[in-house]
Amino acid sequence: MSRPSQRLSTQLRRKPTRYEPLSRIAVGGMAEVWKARAHTGPATNYEVAIKRVLPNMGDERFMDMFEDEARLGMLLNHPNIVRVYDARHLGGTSIMVMELVDGASLKDILVPAQRSGRPFPTACALHITRELLQALEYVHDLRSNEGQPLGIIHRDVSPHNLLLSREGEVKLTDFGLADSATNQHGEEGMVGGKVAYLAPEVVRAQANDHRIDLFATGIMLWEMLAGKSLFQEKNDALTIQAVARCEIPSIEALNDRVPKGLDQILARLLAKDPGDRYRSAKAALSDFRAFLAGFDGGVGPRDVSLVVGLHLAQKKKKAKPDPIAKVAEMGVAELLANELDELVKGTGGSRPLDPREFRF
Ligand SMILES: Nc1ncnc2c1ncn2[C@@H]1O[C@H](COP(=O)(O)OP(=O)(O)O)[C@@H](O)[C@H]1O
Ligand SMILES: [Mg+2]
Repeated sequence: MSRPSQRLSTQLRRKPTRYEPLSRIAVGGMAEVWKARAHTGPATNYEVAIKRVLPNMGDERFMDMFEDEARLGMLLNHPNIVRVYDARHLGGTSIMVMELVDGASLKDILVPAQRSGRPFPTACALHITRELLQALEYVHDLRSNEGQPLGIIHRDVSPHNLLLSREGEVKLTDFGLADSATNQHGEEGMVGGKVAYLAPEVVRAQANDHRIDLFATGIMLWEMLAGKSLFQEKNDALTIQAVARCEIPSIEALNDRVPKGLDQILARLLAKDPGDRYRSAKAALSDFRAFLAGFDGGVGPRDVSLVVGLHLAQKKKKAKPDPIAKVAEMGVAELLANELDELVKGTGGSRPLDPREFRF
């Protein structure tokens, strides 16, 4: 007879027999994300997130990139990165099964805060930044089993791609634009990502490396504490000019609750010249941890959990049955105008998922 612990581990390793879609979390230009239940057996079901390329949307190149994203995602195993469990072609498109982060993206919380001009509680902003730096330290330093550096650069570090759970966990996701030695498609150093989170060397089309992810981290920290965006202008052309100028107003002058010393850290994350920036996420993290040691009361998941809980409660109160409001509710980051139209009409690429397509 096997020992109970062995029986339990066999059960936990069991593959799901079915995924049951529950609700759509978000829909973007090319893909949508669903909350689903993975059925593995009685009393061992759990919830997952499933990202799916919209049918008829993904051209061959996008499907190839999605495959790269899934391959890389399955390799990453860190508490500050969304786990990817599985990926496959299904129903004429591709899906990726991930750990569900039950909460909100940083963008979902940052945008309303900016609208009302309210900065984040300082402890919350600092905790989020430390966790993000931990994720970056892990990915930037990751090596293959043979010990070869994988050269991973996320390239799309932005509030949309940082997920916050009700418990206060902070997890980086969406390696869809990442550089990695594991990629089999796409060009290295491709310019993508959200314009307002690009680094000056990227908009100037100069050589760039992992330090672009540190720059984006700096923008997010600055924005959480300022209650406004750093480079976002009326249109992409003006935003790009603002990124290239790279003028960083003092956060200590803008927000009197910000502890002394943060301007200095921000200056090294947001240096215009990458040569003046922290040379690695590891170096930034070490400096940041030393800074946090002097922060009164310390920071932790509770600081994030409170903000996420408040956001979700407010969202529930505001929920309206209007389809446009529903889109906003789903946390859709950047819907293209015609897709928005399609969604309101209830036609086109946003066709609801057929649950039968999910059985495998
Ligand atoms: N694992 C997850 N758990 C919960 N929500 C998720 C998860 N993955 C993505 N989302 C939600 O879906 C949105 C889009 O996902 P993302 O992977 O960034 O796709 P895209 O490539 O379209 O940007 C995220 O901003 C987040 O709101
Ligand atoms: Mg994204």
